[in-house]
Amino acid sequence: MKYMVKTASLLAALSLLAGCGTSASQSAVSETQETETKTEEQETVTEETPETEEKNVLVIYFSRTGEQYEVGEIDKGNTAIVAEMIAEETGADMYEILPKEDYYPYTYDELTDVALQEQNEGARPEYRDDVPDLSQYQTIFIGSPVWWGDWPMIMYTFFENEDLSGKTLIPFSTHEGSGLAGFDRKLSDTVKDSTILKGFSVRGYDAQNKQDSIREEVKNWLASLDY
Ligand SMILES: Cc1cc2nc3c(=O)[nH]c(=O)nc-3n(C[C@H](O)[C@H](O)[C@H](O)COP(=O)(O)O)c2cc1C
Repeated sequence: MKYMVKTASLLAALSLLAGCGTSASQSAVSETQETETKTEEQETVTEETPETEEKNVLVIYFSRTGEQYEVGEIDKGNTAIVAEMIAEETGADMYEILPKEDYYPYTYDELTDVALQEQNEGARPEYRDDVPDLSQYQTIFIGSPVWWGDWPMIMYTFFENEDLSGKTLIPFSTHEGSGLAGFDRKLSDTVKDSTILKGFSVRGYDAQNKQDSIREEVKNWLASLDY
């Protein structure tokens, strides 16, 4: 019963938040024409020097396995799937933010409790200190699940601790109704002097179960950003 009540309240929150998200596919459609022209131009310049060497791109993500909403028990997180697609399509390096001490529960119901408590307390959970040298990257895709309408608190720890100023940051989320949940605005509020480009969001269920079509969406979004 507790599970159902919590799920219902989270769902209510999700539907309220649903309007906040940015549909990457919508914005990608509006920029298709421009993208097509740019793709042609790129083909002539990038043959000898891979694009990512010039752009120094990194994909950073946080993601959970275990029991997740709508998808049941998963051994690869929804956001991890999208992060891998981005890295594969751009040739970027990847870094996974992992908690220093992984106290997050396995079950969805318990995880929502812990996440809500962290949010209410403004917690700053620590992450492992194996972060790569970020100074070598100019562009960073950064993504996570939406937790209670926001970035998980561990992401704020990362944003506040690491020097991301002067970089181009591109947010992405997986969610079950909240879309991008204002990730872009919250990121620019937290990391000063960075350039935030158009983000991407996808339902966790689709990331897990419709990978071919989601990869197409990812490609369209990347093309719209000129990657
Ligand atoms: C603690 C918690 C809070 C969540 N809050 C939201 C939310 O506010 N809005 C939403 O759309 N989805 C919410 N979800 C669903 C997740 O965003 C979604 O399942 C996501 O794809 C999980 O990604 P992951 O497997 O990479 O961790 C929540 C899930 C959890 C575990």
